[in-house]
This record gives sequence, C-alpha cells and structure tokens, in this order.
Amino acid sequence: MKMTFGTIVGGAIMIVVTAIFMTLGLSALTFTPAPSDIARPLSEAEEKGRGVYIGNGCVYCHTQYVRPQDWNAAGGGKAARVAQAGDYVFQKTMLLGTERTGPDLSQEGGVHPDDWHYAHFQNPRYTSPNSIMPQFSYIEGYDKANNKLIPGTDLANLISYVQSLGQKNSDERTKVQRSEKQGLVDSLDGGQGTPGLDANVPYKDKHLQYLRTLVPDTWKNTRSAMPPSNRSLAHGKQIYVVNCIGCHGENGDGNGPAAQYLNPRPFNFKDVNAQQTHSEGQYYHFLLFGLPGSAMPAWGDYLTVNDIWDVINFVRTIPNGGLQTVDSQLNARQQVTGGVAGPAPAPFDSNAEQWTILPPSPTPVQSPQASPTGGNQRSQSSQNTTATPQGGGGNSIRPTGPVPNVTAPGQEPSGTTRANTPGALIPTPSPATIR
Ligand code: HEC
Ligand code: HEC
Repeated sequence: MKMTFGTIVGGAIMIVVTAIFMTLGLSALTFTPAPSDIARPLSEAEEKGRGVYIGNGCVYCHTQYVRPQDWNAAGGGKAARVAQAGDYVFQKTMLLGTERTGPDLSQEGGVHPDDWHYAHFQNPRYTSPNSIMPQFSYIEGYDKANNKLIPGTDLANLISYVQSLGQKNSDERTKVQRSEKQGLVDSLDGGQGTPGLDANVPYKDKHLQYLRTLVPDTWKNTRSAMPPSNRSLAHGKQIYVVNCIGCHGENGDGNGPAAQYLNPRPFNFKDVNAQQTHSEGQYYHFLLFGLPGSAMPAWGDYLTVNDIWDVINFVRTIPNGGLQTVDSQLNARQQVTGGVAGPAPAPFDSNAEQWTILPPSPTPVQSPQASPTGGNQRSQSSQNTTATPQGGGGNSIRPTGPVPNVTAPGQEPSGTTRANTPGALIPTPSPATIR
C-alpha cells in the first residue's frame, strides 16, 4: 500500500479511535460490578440533595472515595471504609472528586446528627473553629421555632444526601443518632439544655442522671489523670477557646453561636450542680467518643490524651471564673470537682507542683463577676499550706482534717455510693506513685 498523506492521516485517526474505544468504551461495556454490601439506590430527597451538592461545588473540596493508603481519611477515622467499585453502581455520575481540601465524605452519613450539619452549614466556624469551608447559610430550610428541618427544602434534601453517604452503613449510624437523640431530648424534660432557655435555668436531675447512665462505671469512677497544674489549666483553656466556644460559649454557659440551632443545647459548664454530678472520667468518655444523638463530636481523632485531660481540668474552673482569670493565675483551687465514686485524692497544689494538702476550695460561685480575683485569693492562702505534706512521712498526705467534700451527698446513683467513705477501698497513694 502506498503511503499517501491520506492513508497516514486515516491510519492515525483509526489508531486514536481504537485506543479511546479500548480504554473507555470497552471498560464501560464490560465492567459491571455487582452492588457491594452497602450499596443502595438514593431516595428522591437524597437524589435532589445530590443536585444541591453538585450545584454548590461541594465536590471541589470533598472526595467520596477512600484508598487503602488513605487510612483514617474518612470521618477522621470514625467511619473509614476503603471504597469498592460496587459501592457506586447506583450512581449515574460518581462524585469521586480529586481535591481533599476538606475530609473525604464517602462515609459521612450518621457521623453527626442533622442539627450539627445545620449549624455547620450556617457557619462551619461554629462547629469547627479553624475550618476554611465557606458558609452555606443561604441554603434555606430550617424551622427555627420548632427546631426541625422543613421537608422538601434544599437544605433538608442536602442534609439527607450527606446523611446517606455510606449508604447502608450510614443508615445504621443515622438510626442510632436518631434514637439516642430521642433519649436525650426526652430526659431534658423542659430543663437546661432545652432550646430557647436562658443559661440560669437549672438542669433537671432526670437529664443529669440520664447522661450518667450512658457512661460505663469504670469511666465514671475515673479521676483526672493529669495534675491540675497551672500548665495544665492554661493549656486546657487554650484547647477550650480554640475548639469548644462555638458551641459551649465564651462564658462556658452552653450559649455559643451554634447553640441556637442545637437540640439538646451544648452543656452548660457554669451549672455547679451539674458539674458536681458528673465526674472527670465521664467528661473524658464523652470527649473521646462524642455524645451520640447530640452535636457533641468525638474529639478522640483530633485531640491528644493530654489535651483532653487538660481541657477537663480547665472546664472544672469555669464556675469559679476560669475563663475570666489570666492564664498565669489559673489555679487548681478554682476547680469544682465531683461525680466520682471512690475517695477523693488529696487536692493538687499548683505552687508546689505536686499533690498535697490545701484547705477546701472556695464555694463555687454562679457568676464570674462574684469572684474576679479567684487566682489572687489562692496564692495568698497556699503559702501556709505548701509546707504541710513533707511532715507526713511519705504516706500520710491525705488530709486528716475535714476533706473537701467534692461530691454533693445523694447524687451518686445506687451502686456507686463509695463517695463519702474516704479511704475505704482505695489505698492512700504516696506522692511518688501519683505524681
Ligand atoms: C473550599 C472548600 C470546601 C467547600 C467548597 C466545601 N467544603 Fe465541606 N469542608 C471543608 C473543610 C476544610 C472541612 C473540614 C473542617 C470543617 O469541619 O468545617 C469541611 C467539612 C465538611 C463536613 C464535615 C466533615 C466531618 O464530619 O468533620 C461536611 C459534612 C461537609 N464539609 C460538607 C460540605 C458540603 C455539603 C459542601 C457543599 C454545600 C461543602 N462541604 C463545601 C471544605 C469545603
Ligand atoms: C458542635 C457543638 C459542640 C462542640 C464544638 C463541642 N461540644 Fe461539648 N457538647 C455539645 C452538646 C450538644 C452536648 C450535649 C449536652 C447535653 O446533652 O446536655 C455536649 C456535651 C459535652 C460534655 C458532656 C457533659 C456531661 O455532663 O457529661 C462535655 C464534657 C463536653 N461537651 C465538652 C466539650 C469540650 C471540652 C469541647 C471542645 C473540645 C466541646 N465539648 C465541643 C456540643 C458541642
């Protein structure tokens, strides 16, 4: 055959067409994976929400596939699953995405309840203070008076789509979120935590006790593992201000900007009674795993063990003005403690940087204005106490006088009533073992 210009161009075109057919056409015709164990078609609302997702460019920042090397990518590890071809069989155009500016969303469904998403779309900084995700407050559809999504609106559809990511897996998680929320909301019983109430309304005992029932005893009986030194409190304050004020508020009263969208509302750390019913171990449990059914996220993927104990030590100072005290004066004596079964350990002296004897902490005050100089008071009185522990001969650091009664009597549910029998079951630790 003679090599004319025509044959060369014609041949080249044939080669290109064949190559395109073999890579795209053939695979489209022959690659028909079976649906994976989690695959399911989208509902009508979810399909519409997918349109809202595409229309608002969510796909520019969020992927929807996890590769084996992306371990821990999806949902910060809460709900990671390596993508399979069969996961996508019901999707017309797959929204795989290429940029992971935000986290992978392929398993996002059910990681948070609907109200978290609503607050997050209003302003991502409310729930995730360092977020660079843009605000989507113009997507409407929330009935604020009744605290629920209005079905059929763009926002409701978008949230149902986001909650469907992860398909059958996400359905399981969403079901858990819904039933847990019901339990929490029922237990509020019109007390603190109910939407629309001011911060001075107290919690109903029913809610406080209900929260306790969600925590295994071993956690409930755990005290802070981190001495509440000035370092710990100052660092805890930093963790609080960076991660928690969007919900729990700059005064700690549960009244951050996200609170208006949440049900139950974020925990009010200024409620002394509520703090005294709840132990440090309980706080740790909820910080590590989140509080399913509420907007309280699982921080175990974002904070270190030290961060968590430090912030717990710090939130204990909020009723005594911890948020208003300058960092250098934050002190263990501002802490409200409580909620623990088992004898109280000797309090921590942050001047001596060791566990030692101090006079009982000041009575918790309800408003920060009442104790603007909480730190000053302490530094005076601690001077006559720092010398005490050495005299005791190592093992007798437990105060012989009245022990600060950190647990209000009668607040421990039955089965955990060791609180008021100091020394009964747990041997007194020596300073060396507990430091
Ligand atoms: C400019 C990039 C960007 C765009 C556009 C964007 N996001 Fe995000 N998104 C992020 C970043 C960064 C985060 C992580 C911080 C946070 O939680 O806000 C995030 C977090 C999220 C989360 C929370 C994940 C989790 O569980 O922690 C969801 C859900 C989400 N985005 C959904 C959307 C939806 C839906 C849209 C479109 C309406 C969208 N995003 C648009 C950047 C983006
Ligand atoms: C997106 C909002 C949100 C953010 C951010 C948030 N929380 Fe929460 N938190 C809540 C909600 C809602 C509750 C549930 C309150 C209830 O059920 O009464 C809660 C409950 C808690 C509890 C349980 C209280 C108890 O009595 O056991 C602790 C402890 C807590 N939060 C600490 C924190 C800390 C510390 C941070 C920051 C690292 C934080 N939260 C960030 C919303 C949030």
